[in-house]
Amino acid sequence: MTNAIAKPVSSESFSPINTQTWANGRHNMRCVKVIDETWDVRTFCFMAEQPVMFFFKPGQFVTLELEINGQQVMRSYTISSSPSVPYSFSITVKRVPGGLVSNWLHDNLDVGDEIAVHGPVGLFNCIDYPSEKVLLLSGGVGITPVMSMARWFFDTNAEVDMVFAHSARTPRDVIYHRELEHMCSRISNFSLHLICEKYERGQSWYGYRGYLDQVKLEMIAPDFMEREVFCCGPTPYMKAVKRLLEQNGFDMSRYHEESFGATPEDVEEAAIEQAEIAMEEADAITQSDMVQVEFTATGKSVTIAPGETVHTAASKLGLHIPKACGMGICGTCKVKKTEGEVVMEHNGGITDEDIAEGYILTCCSVPNGKVVVDF
Ligand SMILES: Cc1cc2nc3c(=O)[nH]c(=O)nc-3n(C[C@H](O)[C@H](O)[C@H](O)COP(=O)(O)OP(=O)(O)OC[C@H]3O[C@@H](n4cnc5c(N)ncnc54)[C@H](O)[C@@H]3O)c2cc1C
Ligand code: FES
Repeated sequence: MTNAIAKPVSSESFSPINTQTWANGRHNMRCVKVIDETWDVRTFCFMAEQPVMFFFKPGQFVTLELEINGQQVMRSYTISSSPSVPYSFSITVKRVPGGLVSNWLHDNLDVGDEIAVHGPVGLFNCIDYPSEKVLLLSGGVGITPVMSMARWFFDTNAEVDMVFAHSARTPRDVIYHRELEHMCSRISNFSLHLICEKYERGQSWYGYRGYLDQVKLEMIAPDFMEREVFCCGPTPYMKAVKRLLEQNGFDMSRYHEESFGATPEDVEEAAIEQAEIAMEEADAITQSDMVQVEFTATGKSVTIAPGETVHTAASKLGLHIPKACGMGICGTCKVKKTEGEVVMEHNGGITDEDIAEGYILTCCSVPNGKVVVDF
């Protein structure tokens, strides 16, 4: 494994007394370390030019603003490090086949490079849901937010009983394997369980095999009904976990999950569904059903079909409202609405205060009649 490390910052620059703390916003960051975690997962570690204490809630994420092939692109990544090590922060990125940004980061981002980062934000965190007993469940690269939580509890000697169950495809896909075992070997309130879907010829594996199910859940955490559950992973994994807990009559107000967005299969399924609906509706939609969306800052206006989002309206006019998650999580596509009503099905990417002030997330806001936005 190759680890690249930047020139160390002189120790005089560090003073916990004078150092600024991080606040949500746009910041320029320098990549200071690149670590190969597995064959297709890499950690990128960042610092600011002037030392900053990176305080955030473990589980929160940042959104990177990059320029790739002359286009601005934004993607969100969970902060995988812990605020208990505050002079830098890390993200851990898995290559997605055919994916633009994940592959670009792996192939291009190196020590010394500067990028713009927005954040930190996110409702999925262990600070807002304090508990003495947690069950941290993750699948694949979904380990990043729960690892940040585990690192935080570990480093702060928190009196939190942790059960950490991570599912991976094969043993060589287990991210942070050695660190997890190290943590488990140092404290008694950390119980580690690794589940591999399969293992390859020649590999030895002493952990669980298959998928997380009722039997494994009962072995891993017999008292799971008493725990606060934090879960992150691919959509089918999270659906299965949710179903499992619901079937047991678990109090779902103690279940918290983070979605990284649609998988290629979900995207394809949704695209086919949308195309079918669009074809069915195309004949039925008359001109009077069309909805007008006006953009005041640019003086442009367009009509869209019912069900289309404000973001789609902007795209039709060639207006580039930055977008990262496309599902109301990250807040990147927020704009101010000055007139009209929308139905906004967000996933926590906007605060009640912002909504009260008229802001909307354009990726998940469908106009209910004429709408005017300040863009
Ligand atoms: C809050 C949050 C936190 C996240 N944290 C992490 C993290 O810690 N680590 C991590 O690795 N990722 C994380 N992600 C996911 C990350 O933001 C990116 O979505 C991921 O890296 C893929 O981006 P990409 O640009 O490489 O892929 P994209 O170019 O966006 O493509 C994604 C996949 O979809 C396919 N695809 C795209 N469009 C279509 C289409 N129209 N039809 C069919 N297939 C299509 C592509 O081929 C590819 O397989 C997080 C996401 C969110 C929202
Ligand atoms: S793009 Fe993430 S909330 Fe709209």
